[in-house]
Amino acid sequence: MTANLTTQPAWKKLNSHYEAIKATHLRDLFADDPKRGETFSLDAVGLYLDYSKNRITDETLSLLIELAESAGLKDRIEAMMTGQKINTTEDRAVLHTALRAPSGANIEFEGRNVVPDVHAVLDKMAAFCEAITSGSWTGHTGQPIRNIVNVGIGGSDLGPVMAYQALRHYSNRNLTLRFVSNVDGTDFAEATRDLDPAETLFIIASKTFTTQETMTNAHTARTWLLDGLGADPSAVAKHFVALSTNAQQVAEFGINTDNMFGFWDWVGGRYSMDSAIGLSTMLAIGPEQFHQMLAGFHEMDQHYRTAPLDKNLPVLMGLLTVWYTDFFGSQTTAVLPYDQYLSRFPAYLQQLTMESNGKSVTLDGDRVDYDTSPIYWGEPGTNGQHSFYQLIHQGTHLIPCDFIAFGKSLNPIGDHHDKLSANVFAQGEALAMGKTREEVLAEGTSEELAPHRVFEGNRPSNTLLIESLTPAVLGKLVALYEHSVFTQGVIWQVNPFDQWGVELGKVLAKKIVPELESTDQPLAHDSSTNRLIQRYRSLKA
Ligand code: F6P
Repeated sequence: MTANLTTQPAWKKLNSHYEAIKATHLRDLFADDPKRGETFSLDAVGLYLDYSKNRITDETLSLLIELAESAGLKDRIEAMMTGQKINTTEDRAVLHTALRAPSGANIEFEGRNVVPDVHAVLDKMAAFCEAITSGSWTGHTGQPIRNIVNVGIGGSDLGPVMAYQALRHYSNRNLTLRFVSNVDGTDFAEATRDLDPAETLFIIASKTFTTQETMTNAHTARTWLLDGLGADPSAVAKHFVALSTNAQQVAEFGINTDNMFGFWDWVGGRYSMDSAIGLSTMLAIGPEQFHQMLAGFHEMDQHYRTAPLDKNLPVLMGLLTVWYTDFFGSQTTAVLPYDQYLSRFPAYLQQLTMESNGKSVTLDGDRVDYDTSPIYWGEPGTNGQHSFYQLIHQGTHLIPCDFIAFGKSLNPIGDHHDKLSANVFAQGEALAMGKTREEVLAEGTSEELAPHRVFEGNRPSNTLLIESLTPAVLGKLVALYEHSVFTQGVIWQVNPFDQWGVELGKVLAKKIVPELESTDQPLAHDSSTNRLIQRYRSLKA
């Protein structure tokens, strides 16, 4: 069976509407409506979204909203936020919004209010942070902890790394934070080469506590520590803590479960940076600012749950993504933060967006006959401008861009911030308006060179303009994209909360490890894989 989305009335209307407006230029839309910049903007929960530079009209928006309504988006949001098992392929609830609910809230899952459990873990994390920063928690030799190494991968790494970079301005500079994710030994070696084991704490972050990369790095960390501290196994207790849902595996690894910070089955890995997985973030910025970040998340959750669909930031952004992906055929979306602190934000979003909506069957198991998640990518501005922006301006692909800009710099040095901000506004303008052949010729460019210097324009972008990057703002930004992804998933009828697509490679890798360790084990792969393994064996020898 194929999915029924494209046969729905709202979809069909969008199709005809697309045919009618696909050639309309943003230049004309702005010329026709001097108030367009105001009309197509939304100021909510401290974020200002200018979405006027999108190839949309009032009609586009009402048809997209009709599509969301016919998909039952409001009910799906309620189902998610009230703990229904909407992750049907794993038979799980999806309650990351409970991780940032205030302590008095009541969110029930299987008859139990989960909010007190969430806050009990947050309190335990805060007490631990206090013990580390005050120096009352010491290492095996009595020295205070100065280095924190988070060992995890995917959702147990990307969120913590991104948040640490993003909130570095607010961080305790007496602590050195490092992150080890790759099973490539280089990652561990370089992260630890200048650290003193006596002052180093490893946070082993893994929801399942079975992930090959993390477990390999965790064992290497234990060996590194014991080699450095004289092989006394009791040292592990003072230098290892675990973030996990799997107490049994944590204990088997040798970490006392008193030093484990738990979370729950209903927290997906890529939705977990505000759970115990955020321990490194809390250590860096302190419990108070961590709570400010959670409050920011919660504000966006409330907005998503209660604001009308046409005044709802994540809904608008999600629907615009559907518009470009399925009607304009856009394959990618660029996220371009004009803030160096957000340098890892696009990488973080790659897991959030693509592991969530990189699906080709619906919740009912039907094959989709439309595109789902675009490829997300990006780099901070202005660096990207001197690299790949050429293609966004004059290449053959239509790449919707999300610009993220701030009114105030956290490092207000000279006129850096005005120059930075001038660039972000200039890029949005240039992409939308372009430069016509007439304009190029009027500048004195020769006929011959003119085609090279014409900018077609009509390239869409959103601009988020925010006062400054604070912990609360980071929470809002992450929740904005989480809910935009959910909105997209609801329209596409896929399950944004499973990730079966990563399994096959994992299983095959497990099978191949012994084949690489052996020199003569017979190989039964395809001829390409067989030859690669044979060649690897000889290179290794
Ligand atoms: O690669 C798949 C995945 O399951 C991600 O979804 C997850 O974030 C990551 O692996 C790490 O999993 P864990 O936290 O269980 O080690």
